[in-house]
Amino acid sequence: MRITPSILNANFARVGEEIARVPSADGIHLDVMDNHFVPNLTFGLPVVEAVRQATDQMLDIHLMIEDPDRWAPPYAEVGAESVTFHIEAAHGPVRLARELHRLGSRVGVALNPATSVSTLSALLGEIDMVTVMSVEPGFGGQPFLDLVLPKVAQIRSMISKAHVDIWVQMDGGITVETIERCVEAGADTFVAGAAVYKSDDPDAMVRNLHALAQGATHHPELYGCQGRGSK
Ligand code: DX5
Ligand code: ZN
Repeated sequence: MRITPSILNANFARVGEEIARVPSADGIHLDVMDNHFVPNLTFGLPVVEAVRQATDQMLDIHLMIEDPDRWAPPYAEVGAESVTFHIEAAHGPVRLARELHRLGSRVGVALNPATSVSTLSALLGEIDMVTVMSVEPGFGGQPFLDLVLPKVAQIRSMISKAHVDIWVQMDGGITVETIERCVEAGADTFVAGAAVYKSDDPDAMVRNLHALAQGATHHPELYGCQGRGSK
């Protein structure tokens, strides 16, 4: 179980200090938004490069941008350990995944809440992580969309059947109230923005989320999938 805080709700002027406040995190999630793919603008490559210089934490880049085929590879080049692009935006996802691997990063593919799992079936041999959005992307602090949980269960089942080692990340509205349902459905990696950075003690919240995730059990049958896996 991995918890990767999103700095979207942190103080951008002190990003190094904000990252240092969550030593228990398994990585730092950086939300790149271009005001085209999503109706919000955050930061791009120069800021990610500066964050790279400021921390040795694993950097989990979430690109909510048009044309990732063109813009994603430089994030791997500057040393991000994981680069995730949206399947809705990629023109050549297989080519892009291979290019990111060649540049040395892990590869994630993100799906918006209404995007079908069928888009993933050809990509399972090419990627390291699937990110299921549990809010419409664009903003931190939105309420969790339970409707994506059956999709998470389906994705976990596809991954087991294909015998591939792919992390299933959920992003959006992850809190102490929602994280256990996500584990039941089959997720193992969690982005938490507002829950962590709006808390009085962000690192305690990371540890709390971690403990809740570790304590929950995979129950896909609750979300319409056959069989029961392990923790
Ligand atoms: C939403 C972003 C998320 C966001 C999560 O578009 O991709 O990573 O920061 O924030 P919370 O946990 O507040 O929903
Ligand atoms: Zn994100």
